[in-house]
Amino acid sequence: MTAIYLVGFMGSGKSTVGQYLAELTDLPLIDLDQVIEQEADMSIKTMFKEYGETYFRQLEHDCLMRTLGQEGIISTGGGIIERADNREWLKKQQVIFLKASWSDIVERLKHDNDRPLWQQGLADKEKLFYRRQPLYEEVSQRIIDTHGSSPERVAKIIVEKT
Ligand code: S3P
Repeated sequence: MTAIYLVGFMGSGKSTVGQYLAELTDLPLIDLDQVIEQEADMSIKTMFKEYGETYFRQLEHDCLMRTLGQEGIISTGGGIIERADNREWLKKQQVIFLKASWSDIVERLKHDNDRPLWQQGLADKEKLFYRRQPLYEEVSQRIIDTHGSSPERVAKIIVEKT
């Protein structure tokens, strides 16, 4: 039974790398943000606006718990490591941290209007980025530095060394 969890900051490529990984491994892709949006029939952006972040975090936690025993490539949202219970749980799974640099993230998300936590000032986003780095590391068994590698290449690196 194989379940690989991808963690990392917004824009680190979890969803795209997840798609390539799913193809390469012939495993289903489970994108937690997509599952949440489908089940709530609402975008995450609207959910944050209407119900707040805490509400979203609870749905995210519930979705994560439901992946237990499922086979697949599980792409998580960048804030999955915010809750200590999620972190404790992830530590028992096969977790890969896609580590992107701050400048790569800023470049990739420069036109993003959909991620609620990206719509704040640059200094606050940078603080969030650096505060989260040790949390991703804490839950991960492997860290892949994505700088200079395409998502497809990152997926290949993961498969070659698994
Ligand atoms: C979030 C990241 C988003 C999404 C939500 C909150 C975060 O996912 O779950 O907007 O707290 O970093 P991505 O990492 O896929 O952008």
